[in-house]
Amino acid sequence: MANKYFKSLMIEPTNICNLHCPVCPVGAGIDKREKGFMEFHQFKKIIDENRNFLECINLWNYGEPFLAPDIMKMINYTGENNITVTVHTNGTVLNKKILDKFKKNYKLRISFSIDGLTQKTYSYYRVGGNLKNVLNNLSYLANLKKKFNLFNLLIIWQFLVMKTNEHEIDKVFEAAKRIGVDRLRLKTIGINKEHSRYNDFVPKNENYRRRIKKENKNIDFSGCLFINPGMPTILLNGDVVPCCYDYFGEHFMGNVFKKNLLDIWDSQEYRKFREDYKNGQNVFCNNRCNWNKKLIYIKEFNFNKR
Ligand SMILES: C[S@@+](CC[C@H](N)C(=O)[O-])C[C@H]1O[C@@H](n2cnc3c(N)ncnc32)[C@H](O)[C@@H]1O
Ligand code: SF4
Ligand code: SF4
Repeated sequence: MANKYFKSLMIEPTNICNLHCPVCPVGAGIDKREKGFMEFHQFKKIIDENRNFLECINLWNYGEPFLAPDIMKMINYTGENNITVTVHTNGTVLNKKILDKFKKNYKLRISFSIDGLTQKTYSYYRVGGNLKNVLNNLSYLANLKKKFNLFNLLIIWQFLVMKTNEHEIDKVFEAAKRIGVDRLRLKTIGINKEHSRYNDFVPKNENYRRRIKKENKNIDFSGCLFINPGMPTILLNGDVVPCCYDYFGEHFMGNVFKKNLLDIWDSQEYRKFREDYKNGQNVFCNNRCNWNKKLIYIKEFNFNKR
């Protein structure tokens, strides 16, 4: 009999994207998985089987969630089940018609990825994106929240800090306040030193760089949320992997369309993965990842404390 250990899931609605961010597996074209969209009935099955103990669905992984035809149905169904949704979006395919649907005031945290204040600095990373369009969408949603008192909606502006935009940080703070978002989150860019374009993106200011495990033996890298309390990651075809860093599906744990998720979580292989991590012997975690929330995010400003 499987035990209930996790309260959150990460679910990938699609691995298709309209932008070409150079340091994202999808944007860079190195994600070789079959492209597609999760269908609503598949999503519903996952929720229905686990809704009694789920508190949060992270409705994103790689790809642009709002390209998925059933995304609003998924958000609404999760809300109807009193489960919080978090979603990250590049904000480019949103429009008033879609944003007006947020008036339902379900518990929703939406994070807009906007990493520049001029078209030039913005599109250096968000290749193919239009800054004016995404800022209009962000402002429209912030005004909607105010007008209809959407107290369950949390709007976040996430800004990846890079060499090209590190000089804009003070101005982003002012812009985020002016637009009326709830939070501004400054995030470090995840990029390997071996990456051919490392020097194009890594900030000059070392405080804005992501610190890594090998160089920081004294930093506590335990406490991965994917392991404890636990957050299985479900790819669009139903395959379960331990976390979002496994974008090639190296650690396939089972498929939720064929097997119950609690049984997958309780399988010998998944248990071993977690135990190895806790003992510091998980090769995948040791090599791939430097997961530590405090080190991934530089700073978060809460404009509306709640
Ligand atoms: C892969 S994206 C998918 C969702 C959506 N397409 C977007 O960009 O927001 C998920 C999150 O990763 C962030 N991200 C993209 N490239 C990154 C990188 N190289 N390092 C750190 N975070 C990154 C995005 O800003 C977003 O918050
Ligand atoms: S918008 Fe998101 S999914 Fe698309 S390429 Fe950029 S980071 Fe990747
Ligand atoms: S690779 Fe990182 S995020 Fe993934 S399970 Fe291991 S420690 Fe957690």
